[in-house]
Amino acid sequence: MQYRTLGRTNLKISDVGYGAWGIGKSQWIGADDRESLASLKAARDHGVNFFDTALAYGDGHSEKLINQAFGKDREIVIASKIPPINRVWGIGPGSPIQETFPKKYVLECLDESLSNLGRDQIDLMQFHTWIDDWATDAEWLSTVEKMKKSGKVRFIGISVQSHLPNMVLKGIATGQVDSIQVIHNIFDQSPEDQLFPACEKHNIGVIVRVPFDEGALTGKITPDTQFPEGDFRHFYFSGDRKQEVWEHVQAISEDLNIDIAELPEYALRYCLSFPAVSTVIPGMRNARHVQSNAAASDKGPLSPDIVRKLHAHRWTRNYWQ
Ligand SMILES: NC(=O)c1ccc[n+]([C@@H]2O[C@H](COP(=O)([O-])OP(=O)(O)OC[C@H]3O[C@@H](n4cnc5c(N)ncnc54)[C@H](OP(=O)(O)O)[C@@H]3O)[C@@H](O)[C@H]2O)c1
Repeated sequence: MQYRTLGRTNLKISDVGYGAWGIGKSQWIGADDRESLASLKAARDHGVNFFDTALAYGDGHSEKLINQAFGKDREIVIASKIPPINRVWGIGPGSPIQETFPKKYVLECLDESLSNLGRDQIDLMQFHTWIDDWATDAEWLSTVEKMKKSGKVRFIGISVQSHLPNMVLKGIATGQVDSIQVIHNIFDQSPEDQLFPACEKHNIGVIVRVPFDEGALTGKITPDTQFPEGDFRHFYFSGDRKQEVWEHVQAISEDLNIDIAELPEYALRYCLSFPAVSTVIPGMRNARHVQSNAAASDKGPLSPDIVRKLHAHRWTRNYWQ
């Protein structure tokens, strides 16, 4: 396992981290707690020391599983997130922060996360959605100051809205933010345009989420794949989307002359080919996936030639709409 420094924090984190949304069981159907715990422990055994969770993942269930797996082990770096009070993640410009992150509520959520995690302090607390109007908002600045002064939070992060990487450019220039979390993968290359250079300039850590485009870039979603109702992928991959995904994935495999089974490794190494990236956090609910994803770390970044080829597979769309 290779390690990178998370921006200016001095935290040395595994460049393959663990995305803990799926094990929280909300919106993902099919997780089994025993298997999830085994996958968390397998991750640690393979050198993964960075775990990304959120209060919203199963109403604290994901945080509690991480607590169950690791207790107070200080080698484990944990990032969680404050959910919007109105549970609206897609926020338009101009929305007042009080409708999403009122100060009292944020501080209550922080205490709830700490209780779920069984810790007095969390390494990184992220705001689970964001618009840049809030970057200079007095309420937000005072909330962040209170979080840090309380000693309950070491570092502050922002999780950018899906496919809107530039919506945080003002936020990272405030000096208050230590990391951002953003969708970046072979299809959505948009953070490479402005966000990654800005993060390098300000020495902000970058946590890459959804490296497999919710499974599309693992190559296992075929036109016949079915997701149960209640699983968000039933909607996310609805209609002609599975066929579309399959065609794009076939094109990548042909262009790189690789077997579809190798695609997950290439998808992770694509993200790791950008020095701005601190860690990539695939969701992995079983130890088999943990093992193969962790192995991608030691294979390192892709060659510039392969990255150039993959740039031709940029695919701009938003399945959340
Ligand atoms: N801030 C936010 O708003 C936000 C939003 C989304 C995600 N996130 C974070 O980002 C993390 C990653 O995103 P994600 O979990 O949604 O999607 P993802 O990482 O793009 O894809 C996860 C899917 O890939 C499968 N998979 C993982 N490794 C595999 C392998 N080696 N071979 C084949 N399949 C493999 C998983 O299988 P299984 O189903 O078997 O596990 C799962 O179905 C989340 O867990 C969460 O921590 C944050």
